[in-house]
This record gives sequence, structure tokens and C-alpha cells, in this order.
Amino acid sequence: MRSKVIILALFLMATSCTRQPADADAASAAHDTLTAADQVALADALTPVSDASSDALAGDVSSTDSSGPSVYELMGKKPGIKMFLDVFFKEMAWSPVLNFYLPTADSAQMAQLKIHMTDVLAIIWGCSECGYAGNLDMAAVHKGVLIADGEWNAFTGLCFEVMNEELLLPNETIIAAVKALEVYKGQVVDTTSLYARFGGRTKVRKVVGQLFTKYIQADPQLKARFAGAPQPALADLVTDYIAGPVLGQKYVQYKGKAPATAHAGMKITDAEMAIFLDLLGKAMDDYTVNPQAKGELLALLAKQGQALVGL
Ligand code: HEM
Ligand code: HEM
Repeated sequence: MRSKVIILALFLMATSCTRQPADADAASAAHDTLTAADQVALADALTPVSDASSDALAGDVSSTDSSGPSVYELMGKKPGIKMFLDVFFKEMAWSPVLNFYLPTADSAQMAQLKIHMTDVLAIIWGCSECGYAGNLDMAAVHKGVLIADGEWNAFTGLCFEVMNEELLLPNETIIAAVKALEVYKGQVVDTTSLYARFGGRTKVRKVVGQLFTKYIQADPQLKARFAGAPQPALADLVTDYIAGPVLGQKYVQYKGKAPATAHAGMKITDAEMAIFLDLLGKAMDDYTVNPQAKGELLALLAKQGQALVGL
């Protein structure tokens, strides 16, 4: 029990910065994901109760133990789950790691998402008589969503935070509830897309922030080029361009100009483009990006960069 309380504290420390505006800078966004050491500790604490079947959730119903009340009952059945989700989605809108996945708060899509999530969580948390009209195959539902590992950690971390700080649930209930969710990590998290392997939008934001604040500022040639460019708004735009159009995360909405328009008249030289990409690679090294993903993204950007030279 004592160790679980320590894990709970660790989890909360790691997620205590989730209340950030959408355009928070890289430094604050960095706090939304767990460190590698935190993840190992969490993995120990949250060892799945069973291997989830990808066909149906119903076989995976969990409870704190087979004779005691189910997590579903401990959470307050459907009214309790609805209350949890109301707070959860409100908080999720403040998380720069997760908020781009949400439909607009007052949309019909959001209302439907809440109903579907309530029904699915009821089943995951052990309601044997509950039904669900949608697709219970979580792997199929999340195929193509490209959820990165750090985004999953932010999601379950936020569940923990809401249950603990806002709903004031007992530790045992919180641990059992999150443990039951962890069973689905392998079905929800994407491991193949470049977006997910690179580390998601948060990792891109950290790298781009580092490129501008550390490397471009120290490079005499590029520093002059970017003098007067709006910061950190430009870092946000470049991040969304890379996460969205380049890496294919369809939930990230890039709202900037087409790159050919943005760079028109700049007469960027081959040498400047090479320096820019070299510095971007250095910024990636500062954030331990998977080396293969680093190479793939730099190759994609080098190709796009060619088209911006000399405009
Ligand atoms: C155990 C954890 C999770 C469960 C039980 C779950 C459940 C669901 C369900 C039931 C739907 C269908 C909603 C509908 O049809 O209205 C859905 C869709 C979706 N989920 Fe999850 N989800 C989980 C984790 C996540 C995470 C971690 C993310 C992102 C960080 C995420 C992002 C999405 C998105 C973007 C969709 C919409 C997919 C589409 O466009 O069709 N989910 N999820
Ligand atoms: C593959 C390489 C590059 C990519 C993907 C890229 C991408 C972008 C994007 C998405 C924007 C924001 C567009 C907007 O304002 O709506 C931007 C702006 C800008 N880029 Fe690049 N860029 C690249 C290389 C470069 C290089 C090498 C330079 C300079 C030598 C440069 C200089 C600028 C400047 C000064 C702006 C700000 C423009 C403004 O304030 O309106 N870029 N870039």
C-alpha cells in the first residue's frame, strides 16, 4: 500500500503541470510527459490485470478483487463516470499534449464522445450488464489516430490527477481504475507511424523550441534571418506544420501560410538550409529522439526545404 501511495505521488508530480494554455512554450509542455524513470516505476505499479482481447472488452472486466466491488461500482456507476468525464475533458482542453485531439467543446461530436466513453469505461471498469452501441475493438477505433507513447502517459496521468485532486477518490479506487485502463495501452498507442515514433507533437514542440531559442540565436547567419520573427508563435506554427502536414497527424490543425508563400522573397541559400537542418538535428539530439525517426524526419524536411531555396 505504502509503495502505491508513493507511486501515486510520483504520478501526480509528473502530471502537475497539465493546466497550461494551448500555446504554452516547450519548457512547460515538457512537464506533461513522464520521464523514463517515472515510466518504469509506473509500469511496475500498473502491471495489467490481464491481456486485453482486441475483439471485445467484455472479457476484460476488472474489479479490485473478484469478491469485492468492481471499479465500476467504486467509481459511482454511470453517474460517477459521467462526472469524471465532464471534469476530465475540461482539463484535457488545457493540456497542450492532448487538447488537439478533442472536438470543439460544445459540438455534437463532443456530446457523442462523452456518451461513448461513458459506456466503454463502464465496461472496462467491470459493469457486466452494460452495453455499447459502438465498436468495442479499441485497436480498430484508434487505428490511424497515431497516439504517441507520451500522449498515452499524459492521458492516464490526467485520469489520475482528476480522480485524486478533483473527485477526491480513495487511492485504491484510483489505482484500480488506471490499472484497468493500462490494459488497453497496447491497443491504443501507435508504434509504427513516424509521428508516434518521433514522440508526438510535444516532442516536436520541444525540438523546435530548442532550435529557435538555443541554436538559431547562437548562429550569426540564421539569427539575422529570424530577427523580428514572432516568438514563440513561430515555434508553434513550425511545430504544427511538422506534426500535421509533414508527419501526418490529422488532428493537429496547421493554421499558418503555405511554406512557399511564407518564404517567398527570402532568397534562402542552399548553405542556409543546410545549417537550419543541421541545427534541427542538434536540437533533436538534445531531446533523445529515436535515431531512425530523426533520420526519417530530417530526410523529409530536406526534401521540402529544397523547394524553399531561392524563392
Ligand atoms: C483506455 C483508454 C481509451 C479508451 C477507453 C478510449 C475510448 C474511445 C472510444 C470509445 C472512442 C470512440 C468514440 C466515438 O465513436 O464517439 C474513441 C475515439 C477516439 N479516441 Fe480514444 N480512448 C482511449 C484512449 C485515447 C487516448 C490516449 C487518446 C489520445 C491521446 C484517444 C483519442 C481518441 C480519438 C482522437 C478518437 C476519435 C477517433 C476517430 O476520429 O474516429 N483515445 N476512444
Ligand atoms: C525545411 C525547412 C523549413 C521549414 C519546414 C520551414 C517552415 C516554416 C513555417 C511553417 C513557417 C511559418 C509560416 C507562417 O508564418 O505562417 C516559417 C516561417 C519562417 N521561416 Fe521557415 N522553414 C524552413 C526553413 C527556413 C530557413 C532555412 C529560413 C531562413 C534561413 C527560414 C526562415 C523563416 C522565417 C524568417 C519565417 C517567418 C516569416 C514571417 O515572419 O512571416 N525558414 N517557416
